[in-house]
Amino acid sequence: MGRTSITLGGVYLNSTVTNASGPRSATREELMELSAAHSGAVVFKSCNTSGLEAPDNLKNPGVDYYSAVARNIAPRGNVTWGSVVGVTEDEIVSVARTLDGAGVRIIELNLADPFVGDSVGPFKSLDRLRALLRRVRAAVKAAIAVKVPPAAPRVQAAATAAIFRETGVAIAVCANDLPKGLEFDLAAQTAKAPHGPLSQTHAFYLAGDGNLDVVAVGGVSSGSEAYLAHLTGAKAVQVGSALIKEGVGAITRIDQELDHLLAQNGKSSVREIIGQIRLVQG
Ligand SMILES: Cc1cc2nc3c(=O)[nH]c(=O)nc-3n(C[C@H](O)[C@H](O)[C@H](O)COP(=O)(O)O)c2cc1C
Repeated sequence: MGRTSITLGGVYLNSTVTNASGPRSATREELMELSAAHSGAVVFKSCNTSGLEAPDNLKNPGVDYYSAVARNIAPRGNVTWGSVVGVTEDEIVSVARTLDGAGVRIIELNLADPFVGDSVGPFKSLDRLRALLRRVRAAVKAAIAVKVPPAAPRVQAAATAAIFRETGVAIAVCANDLPKGLEFDLAAQTAKAPHGPLSQTHAFYLAGDGNLDVVAVGGVSSGSEAYLAHLTGAKAVQVGSALIKEGVGAITRIDQELDHLLAQNGKSSVREIIGQIRLVQG
């Protein structure tokens, strides 16, 4: 078991560093390349029932395509991590069920995209969110993750985390929206900031009170950014733009940099730093 391995939503991952849904993860070739490049999880592009030509950011060939890819990747040992969109509750439940049937280990509901927000509107009320998540939970065996809209009000983090707990959602995928120019010290595990959550990731970590696993997405392109995301409560990090810029080597590079930083700071496991940030006044 390496320094950067973790259990996320009950699923063992060789590394906390994964790709984000979408960037370089839309085609079978891209997903096989990711799987060959590292032994951690492989996150698929969001898909719906029969594919989409628009919006551009959600172009996908449909759930059957990703189910076939999941069956190809599973024997290689990577954890397969699907992502779901849809324009109705029925569609979201059905796509999740199909991925589950293909053996996908983590099913991420992409409730962050306006495509879902404007149709299903799961974050328009806590009752709607609860109803959708109950249906998905009843339909699948896999661990369920929810990608939270970055604009979801921070004050609702506790109520949302409570619904995740109640409905058996183990993982929240949250924005790593740390303040620009944040001064921090990784070795001292401190950040100069007023009291309160530093990011959506941090807000959900605090709100989850140890019962919710949080994944940070956004702006992670180095080991030190991953380290800081972990200090603010992330159990895993997803990499998007760096993957586009650099190719699949970005995942192993960030994992190695994180591993070196953990060693340098005398940590034998990434678990020792999760949520350990201390806020100090400037
Ligand atoms: C080209 C592209 C396609 C994306 N497609 C999806 C998608 O299908 N599903 C999803 O949940 N997020 C999608 N995203 C958002 C990423 O998963 C991620 O949240 C975002 O890029 C922020 O991470 P970054 O700062 O590392 O790029 C996409 C982003 C990009 C740039």
